[in-house]
Amino acid sequence: MSRQVIQSANIYFSPTGTTRKIIRSVAAGLALRPREMDLTLPSARSQRFILERDELLVLAFPVHGGRLPKLALEIFQTLPAGHRPAVALVVYGNRAYEDALLELYDLCVNKGYYLVGAAAFIGEHSYSHVMGRSRPDPADLEAAKGLGLSLRHSLLGGDKVLSDTPLLATAKRPYRGYSPKRNVLPETSKKCVGCLICVKNCPTGAFEGGDPRKIDPDKCVLCAACVKACPEKAKSFNDDEFTDDMAAMAAANLDRKEPVIFLP
Ligand SMILES: Cc1cc2nc3c(=O)[nH]c(=O)nc-3n(C[C@H](O)[C@H](O)[C@H](O)COP(=O)(O)O)c2cc1C
Ligand code: SF4
Ligand code: SF4
Repeated sequence: MSRQVIQSANIYFSPTGTTRKIIRSVAAGLALRPREMDLTLPSARSQRFILERDELLVLAFPVHGGRLPKLALEIFQTLPAGHRPAVALVVYGNRAYEDALLELYDLCVNKGYYLVGAAAFIGEHSYSHVMGRSRPDPADLEAAKGLGLSLRHSLLGGDKVLSDTPLLATAKRPYRGYSPKRNVLPETSKKCVGCLICVKNCPTGAFEGGDPRKIDPDKCVLCAACVKACPEKAKSFNDDEFTDDMAAMAAANLDRKEPVIFLP
């Protein structure tokens, strides 16, 4: 297989854009013909995908509560099964990635894909400008590009398959349960100028009637895309318990975590 891989399908979900930066750097290192499949917005997820024969699948998701976002399962349902090489990437906010990378590994294997590499990178936390501040930074992007380059060399060198053994050193099945959903929503201040950038960037279409001030709590997955995308800084989570918890989490995770890369 490996010598025929000339193209990569770079499939990702990235509400606040850090996962996108990582997958693009990996793709730059791979230097295959890239096919970017950004599945962040509902319109992109409504299509079914055709994958080319001998296409390398690069799959990247953020970590939500030590797991993959539930939308990852929906995305996998739209992907065709088959024997294909795949790379699993997760991006987390400098706390921990826990079972998310193992979960992504398993989703790939259940589709018939075989893993040629996996990695966890760090991105600025969706709820904070302190945890993982401004990451991925140039060093992270260089590491991601280096991973792409290593993958390119190993694909040219033959069939080497990554087992789950190294991932099981820090993760386990059954995976940790989903975190209980918090009873909070992003709030909109007077600074809002009605530009609708938040509405256009919501991965679940949660803004009722396209109104930037009206969020359907059942649709909102608290991904913070609207908060981080607002150019006026008019959106924020203001619930006291939530902000206190985030401040405590940030204080406990100020140490710099480094990307972890698994190759066969
Ligand atoms: C609902 C939710 C849960 C999160 N859970 C974790 C977590 O368990 N560990 C962690 O380090 N970061 C966590 N984060 C932070 C994101 O993983 C991190 O900011 C990532 O870079 C976001 O990717 P994106 O920019 O592609 O959206 C969470 C973010 C959200 C929105
Ligand atoms: S992005 Fe900000 S300013 Fe624009 S509509 Fe949304 S809340 Fe208002
Ligand atoms: S409304 Fe909710 S789901 Fe939509 S972007 Fe904002 S936090 Fe994410």
